[in-house]
Amino acid sequence: MMQILVTGGAGFIGSNFVHYVMKHSDFQVTVVDKLTYAGNLASLANLPTERFRFVQGDITDAQLVDRLVRTVDAVVHYAAESHNDNSLADPGPFLATNIMGTYTLLEAVRKHGKRFHHISTDEVYGDLALDDPYRFTEHTPYNPSSPYSSTKAGSDLLVRAWVRSFGVAATISNCSNNYGPYQHVEKFIPRQITNIIDGIRPKLYGSGENVRDWIHADDHSSAVLTILEKGVSGETYLIGADGEHNNKSVIEAILSGMGKSADDYDQVTDRPGHDLRYAIDSTKLRTELGWTPSHADFTAGLAATIHWYQANEDWWRPQKTATETKYAAAGEQTLYPTAAAPQ
Ligand code: NAD
Ligand code: TYD
Repeated sequence: MMQILVTGGAGFIGSNFVHYVMKHSDFQVTVVDKLTYAGNLASLANLPTERFRFVQGDITDAQLVDRLVRTVDAVVHYAAESHNDNSLADPGPFLATNIMGTYTLLEAVRKHGKRFHHISTDEVYGDLALDDPYRFTEHTPYNPSSPYSSTKAGSDLLVRAWVRSFGVAATISNCSNNYGPYQHVEKFIPRQITNIIDGIRPKLYGSGENVRDWIHADDHSSAVLTILEKGVSGETYLIGADGEHNNKSVIEAILSGMGKSADDYDQVTDRPGHDLRYAIDSTKLRTELGWTPSHADFTAGLAATIHWYQANEDWWRPQKTATETKYAAAGEQTLYPTAAAPQ
């Protein structure tokens, strides 16, 4: 029976992965998580104690990391500072966790000869034009735009160097935008759902023509489990589920799905350096490892996600005021309320 260390397992995608692994494998799981503003122990409630243990700690703590890595067969590395807007306000923590944290883990797996899987993002590739027929592949050159994506790119390159220079057995996956339960309300989809619940108009950055390639967090988890079991060391796999939608259409779908008028949102200050479009070609993962996503219907997945936030207010309520205060402090301003916009 495999023992894995999941870093960042109290965050959005890490916690979904832990639940997925409990259901679809017999792995023993240790989560290490610092419990920053983004970590939430409530996302890991009711897991079987004989297969799961939680350790609060920082992945830049070399002694702690060494002690934990020694006891497991593999490390699945999710822990990161993950939000672009925060990285524009204060890049420092992104360098510490995403770069130094990954370095600390790599040194430990190198020393103890353990398997490493690094979770990364398609944002390392920069962005695409709206009408570009090309999508990102494993061969696309790195061209990150933000402090967040540049630190993720840096961490990917560290992993590649530790494979080549030191023979570490590691794989990397770069996934597109995830949605689903347990996502922090600072992120696009949960922010709008919880705004509507609170009677606040959803906030669209700029014109909203920006495209994201949405994948359900469960499909990300099934892909990572597949790579852990069948992936080839040294290889990178792109994870995506052909879910391209522009932000405007997603806000309209959320409003309609919650019984509101589709134009009842505000256009607000655009994000500086806002990437236009992400799109993933996941052919390699599908053909070489036989993975397929199972949540093909974005509308159904979005409806289930809306329902989850409606039913789990206890989970997100403590984050909400601080998140909206942070956006206001960062200077977010309404350009015009769309319903009242001149024709
Ligand atoms: P998240 O912000 O929800 O969770 C991050 C978790 O890491 C939190 O629980 C936090 O407490 C923990 N953490 C932060 N710094 C730490 C430290 N120094 N030591 C230990 N724990 C620490 O992020 P997420 O959206 O779940 O993203 C998880 C991973 O997936 C990240 O590596 C991110 O780059 C990657 N990713 C995210 C997306 C997405 O759409 N959210 C898409 C592709 C890849
Ligand atoms: P986000 O969830 O922050 O993910 P990422 O920056 O990794 O793509 O944002 C998704 C998209 O939604 C992105 O184009 C920015 C946009 N956005 C809004 O329009 N309004 C919002 O309130 C937020 C948080 C994001």
